Amino acid sequence: MIDLDTTQAHHTLSIDADQLGDRGLHGRITIPGDKSISHRALMLGSLASGETTIRGLLLGEDPRSTAACFRAMGAEISELNSELVTVKGIGLGNLREPLNILDAGNSGTTLRLMLGVLASHADRFFTVTGDASLRSRPMARVVNPLKEMGAQIWGRESGNKAPLAIAGQTLKSIHYHSPIASAQVKSCILLAGLMVDGETIVTEPERSRDHSERMLRAFGATVEVDGNMVYLKGKATLEGQPVTVPGDISSAAFWLVAGSIVPNSDLLIENVGVNPTRTGILEVLAEMGADITLENSREVAGEPVADLRVRSAQLKACTIGGAVIPRLIDEIPVLAVAAACAEGTTIIQDAAELRVKESDRITAIATQLNHMGANVSERADGLEIIGGTPLVGTSLESYDDHRICMSLAIAAIVASGKTTIDHAESAAISYPSFIPTLQQLY
Ligand code: S3P
Repeated sequence: MIDLDTTQAHHTLSIDADQLGDRGLHGRITIPGDKSISHRALMLGSLASGETTIRGLLLGEDPRSTAACFRAMGAEISELNSELVTVKGIGLGNLREPLNILDAGNSGTTLRLMLGVLASHADRFFTVTGDASLRSRPMARVVNPLKEMGAQIWGRESGNKAPLAIAGQTLKSIHYHSPIASAQVKSCILLAGLMVDGETIVTEPERSRDHSERMLRAFGATVEVDGNMVYLKGKATLEGQPVTVPGDISSAAFWLVAGSIVPNSDLLIENVGVNPTRTGILEVLAEMGADITLENSREVAGEPVADLRVRSAQLKACTIGGAVIPRLIDEIPVLAVAAACAEGTTIIQDAAELRVKESDRITAIATQLNHMGANVSERADGLEIIGGTPLVGTSLESYDDHRICMSLAIAAIVASGKTTIDHAESAAISYPSFIPTLQQLY
């Protein structure tokens, strides 16, 4: 039985795992559009000249925040749906000064990428904020390099925390050596570089997701990539384009782990984006002994796509760290669930970034899995998980974090007895149909 109590403002998800019996999870799953690509399609469509069409947009709360912000600055974005969204762009440099505070909601991608856009729109003033989680997250990682480009930004803690105020300026190009591998930092600087004179360069310690580079190129910007270095030619022009958004591998991750750890399962997850900067989860699960195959591999609108078939397997522990971390950063909470069900001790390291996501995901997943009887210890930069202790259903906290909520729901399927998870409405940030899909699989 899977039940969602919506009678209170905050919804509670109840999962009674015993009722699944030995049936396993079976069927075909269609996952919603990629969150990163959805944000970028809305932003570049708004900034470009002419019309952009978006098929397969994610209808989660995060892209809705992006759409609302760009509508407030003059972009004409049709009602959001996953069939077809049209964006009438206003042309690079033409954003209107918004009449009110821009609200990025829970979305770090909206706020950080948009800061690069706003800072480079000279002679306009902008204020931006977000929900309690976003207002606690660090912005200096983008504000400082933007200031090096000449940006004027103010906020709490010397501009590290939203609400932020931005007086748009004509910026100058930089070569920024980012201390962290972050697509949000890289993309913010590249977007700020669109209107500058000369070349903007970002070098990162490891390669992060490259959706911005791909989409900027498709919209007509000159972008070159050399190892961990990305060059963008300034004074760019962007032309509206048709964009097809593939399914989000970060959403598929929940079913990849569920199909692996629930005995007798066989799932086909259709239309998943398998951009190599995002497929760390497939490599790690393969190393753990998962039975996952890629079928029908193809390219859709400049992004590689495949159907993923997952069958149950006994997983074994592994060590996860180094260059793979940015390629699976959002999947670590659900990988921790996989590790709790695996034989042996899994170490997750070099992942301190998890502490500044929508929640402190290291503390969140360790605390909640331990409540279920798992054996998880926190490290400063990750987790140590001794797998194999049986999980027991109990009352859990999601920290109002969508990925913690959904990861715990997957753990609940293999626990004995009943689990309840609070703030289950948070799943709608990135995956509004997660709970109905879970119910369908039962
Ligand atoms: C994202 C980049 C990642 C990721 C986030 C989406 C993006 O964040 O965790 O969910 O769309 O650029 P960082 O760049 O902070 O690592």
